[in-house]
Amino acid sequence: MARQTIRPVLGIESSCDETATAVLDADGRVLAEAVHSQETDHAPFGGVVPEIAARAHLAVLPEQIKQVMGRAGLEFGDLGGVAASAGPGLIGGLIVGSQMAKGIAIAHRLPYVAVNHLEAHALTARLPGLVPHGAPFPYLLLLVSGGHCQCVAVEGVGQYVRLGGTIDDAAGEAFDKVGKLLGLGWPGGPALERLAASGDPTRHAFPRPMLRRPGCDFSFSGLKTAVARAVGKHPPGALSVQDAADIAASFQIAVAEVLADRAGHAMAMMRERDPATRLLIVAGGVAANGTVRSALTREADSRGFIMVAPPIRLCTDNAVMVAWAGLERLRLGWTDDLDFAPRPRWPLDADCMFRGPA
Ligand code: KG4
Ligand code: ZN
Repeated sequence: MARQTIRPVLGIESSCDETATAVLDADGRVLAEAVHSQETDHAPFGGVVPEIAARAHLAVLPEQIKQVMGRAGLEFGDLGGVAASAGPGLIGGLIVGSQMAKGIAIAHRLPYVAVNHLEAHALTARLPGLVPHGAPFPYLLLLVSGGHCQCVAVEGVGQYVRLGGTIDDAAGEAFDKVGKLLGLGWPGGPALERLAASGDPTRHAFPRPMLRRPGCDFSFSGLKTAVARAVGKHPPGALSVQDAADIAASFQIAVAEVLADRAGHAMAMMRERDPATRLLIVAGGVAANGTVRSALTREADSRGFIMVAPPIRLCTDNAVMVAWAGLERLRLGWTDDLDFAPRPRWPLDADCMFRGPA
């Protein structure tokens, strides 16, 4: 299909607890972007509170969009389209971002793209300059965030096959829950990694759920329960910093080993689908973890794959990836109707992802 040349695209992200806006030109260059984290709004509650999230998106987005457009040096009329995360995620936030995007699209007669947030994570690797020599289809995506943990064969824009995923908690969720058990506050992942740096990863032989099982599904709830039991063996207040660090390190290495094993299976499955596949992209907040990254790199090396994790700011929720997914779709002439309703649940391999001619 002939690629259409298009004008810059505005992207909006509001599916969870990051409020983000970005403008990309037709080649994928970032003209301006902003990310506002709601972490301090939710931290006192130990997790994301949907109502607080929706209100915070509403409070921040209008001014954020105005500022980003100003920094990009553009008027709305200069745009070639408006893209917003339309699911999966928290419905209140999705409605705020989608309505904002639709309003701009109506007022300025612009094409609108309802972006699947997971598709945005999946396509980030194709941003120009991100992966040396580019990221041609197909490639394998391991998405490991607070809400998602899955292996996806990315075979084209709108063409995704979920090879496996978690049957209970997401990897980031496990880090957050164990962080809470260790009194580290929320989100637990970054603090847990810092604590683990001074811990002994061999002190506790925590279970490695699903290890070496066929396929590439994940499970983390048994591991979390084992950690809770180890913490519970210490009388309240008697867990020393060293004890906590040893638990953190032992937990972290268990997660890293499980992720590497599951990703290894996914790479084999990917090779069966297409023997030429050689790229493993890791996205989501957990990709920031050094122990996880090195375990995945080792596994990828041993299977002749190249592992690439986008820089952290593009790994975690952002609007650059949403604008980019919008661009990829607009280039194919795929737009959405303005009555597209945001979807709290929206699996990546649902039929509706592929909107081109059959
Ligand atoms: O992708 P993300 O920013 O948001 C979504 O969940 O969509 O991921 C956040 C998750 C949280 O669960 C957080 O604890 C985890 O990623 N995380 C980490 C690290 N940094 C963030 N987990 C382990 N180690 C880290 N360094
Ligand atoms: Zn995300």
